[in-house]
Amino acid sequence: MSQPSAEGLPPTMQMLQIMVGPWVAQIAAAVARFEVPDHLAEGPRAALELAKLAGAEPETFERLLRAAASVGIVREVSPGLYAGTPLGDTLRSNVPGSVRALVLAELGPGHWLPWGRLGDAVKAGHSQAAAALGSDAWAYYRQNPEEGAAFARGMSDLAALVAAATASACDFSGSERIVDVGGSEGAMLAAALRAAPEAHGVLFDLPEVIARGRGAVAAHGLGRRIETVAGDFFQEVPAGGDLYILKMVLHDWSDDQSVTILKNVQRAARPGARVLVVEMIVPPTVTPSPVYLMDLDMLVVLDGRERTEPQFAALFERAGLRFERVTPTLGLFSIVEGTRV
Ligand SMILES: C[S@@+](CC[C@H](N)C(=O)[O-])C[C@H]1O[C@@H](n2cnc3c(N)ncnc32)[C@H](O)[C@@H]1O
Repeated sequence: MSQPSAEGLPPTMQMLQIMVGPWVAQIAAAVARFEVPDHLAEGPRAALELAKLAGAEPETFERLLRAAASVGIVREVSPGLYAGTPLGDTLRSNVPGSVRALVLAELGPGHWLPWGRLGDAVKAGHSQAAAALGSDAWAYYRQNPEEGAAFARGMSDLAALVAAATASACDFSGSERIVDVGGSEGAMLAAALRAAPEAHGVLFDLPEVIARGRGAVAAHGLGRRIETVAGDFFQEVPAGGDLYILKMVLHDWSDDQSVTILKNVQRAARPGARVLVVEMIVPPTVTPSPVYLMDLDMLVVLDGRERTEPQFAALFERAGLRFERVTPTLGLFSIVEGTRV
């Protein structure tokens, strides 16, 4: 059984559905954390058995399963017996289209606690990470390496969903050295290198992300075609690239910080190099799109923002890059392209 759709409900009921949205999200995160969809991959199992596998208190675990069944994440086959569903299967580990790591990362304390202070962030005009977490989000992830690793895996989940569509919208012809700035575990770079068989790639990210991501990078199967470099893009980025990718990087930062990053790219790049900024674009008027929710996620957690096309053009200009064009991809993202003159 699943929740009735909001359509056709009176406004009060619709609002109550919105109110319980965060609860439903936490139910999904708990089901993912206890690997319930993985345990149900081979067929239905008793609640008691699932509780044992989770190491959880049986009565409360069955209450979780009941609630998860009420929103379609699992299915009650008969009293006390539960099966997987296509919706819950998206929370399985290591299956194509899995968003398990992303759900765990977005609903873990690093994001969840700042979101609890959205009103404060809007009023003050800046992120509430310091108030909610005691530090900025990157320092928090450094201090909580397990959650930091989950965040990087979440980014890889998202990247895996969109990398191929993004890469197919890019022209990599003639590229020799592709640098992925803030490339996390290299999902986008791997897609780029598959589309550009002659090119070599440089994956650049924070030292802890590069150190932790070695296994994931090796799993792309591109061997020596990917070189990893650890560093801080506010200091410098790897030099000599003829193509730089910044995917979901600038949206983490303010305009001034984004200009610093782009200036470092401008300094490091070969003359004539192309700079591809892969982001969601804020349309000129409000349309149904996840970009507005992501924009607030960036505000509460990071002091970043999503941007319109003219806002990107202005950043490029301030960094000394020539703004060329914006190309939409088949996925959610667009490619904002500039040239190092
Ligand atoms: C939102 S994630 C995007 C990751 C990846 N580009 C993708 O689209 O999946 C931002 C990335 O920037 C990296 N990052 C944050 N601060 C950095 C810094 N000062 N220098 C280098 N990388 C940084 C993070 O570790 C993270 O991998």
